[in-house]
Amino acid sequence: MLIVLEGIDGSGKSSIAQLLKEELEKRKYKIWLTKEPTKGPIGRLIREFLAKGHKLNENWGRVMALLFAADRYYHQEEIKEKIRQGYIIISDRYYHSTFAYQPNYPGTTIEWIRELHRYLEKPDYVFILDIPVELAIERMSDRKKRHMYEKKEFLEKVRYNYLRLKEILPNENIIYISNDRLPEETVKEILKILKL
Ligand code: TYD
Repeated sequence: MLIVLEGIDGSGKSSIAQLLKEELEKRKYKIWLTKEPTKGPIGRLIREFLAKGHKLNENWGRVMALLFAADRYYHQEEIKEKIRQGYIIISDRYYHSTFAYQPNYPGTTIEWIRELHRYLEKPDYVFILDIPVELAIERMSDRKKRHMYEKKEFLEKVRYNYLRLKEILPNENIIYISNDRLPEETVKEILKILKL
């Protein structure tokens, strides 16, 4: 089973992922927690480009969308292997992030992004953790280094893109969960939906 956690930067995905893993392990399930961008060579390059900063123009949109997709195909073999081994996989971000973030560059269309991700494994559940951008920014205030996407105006657009993702990907099991509360409460709601 593949479970994806999505949301804007500062939405609390990592804590939820960790807590969900612990709860499922208590119930004796085999869990593999993973994330995108990966720690591999393409993921490293992505983080470098984000930290350095670049123009939000057509060309950079293509560079970044292709890098995120390439990193994802690089990640895919391991995901498929873990599914075969019977793991429940929790991925902190997946291709839904590209649908939410990269259309912020002019000329990076949903149709092209859809095409780039045609051959990837579809998740069983996609939980989009939703919180107001102000709260996300507040939660990130203790992070030492912030990259070019972690700004209010940028994240407002990303949040909007997430909120219409269910219409863009109607065949996917996309569930919105508000995460402006204690992580334990959010995880309880997720567990109820998973029926595990
Ligand atoms: P990073 O700090 O590594 O991830 P996180 O904040 O989730 O721990 O930075 C990844 C950034 O890349 C984050 O702002 C989300 C963004 N991103 C995209 O724009 N497109 C994508 O496809 C993915 C996977 C991430």
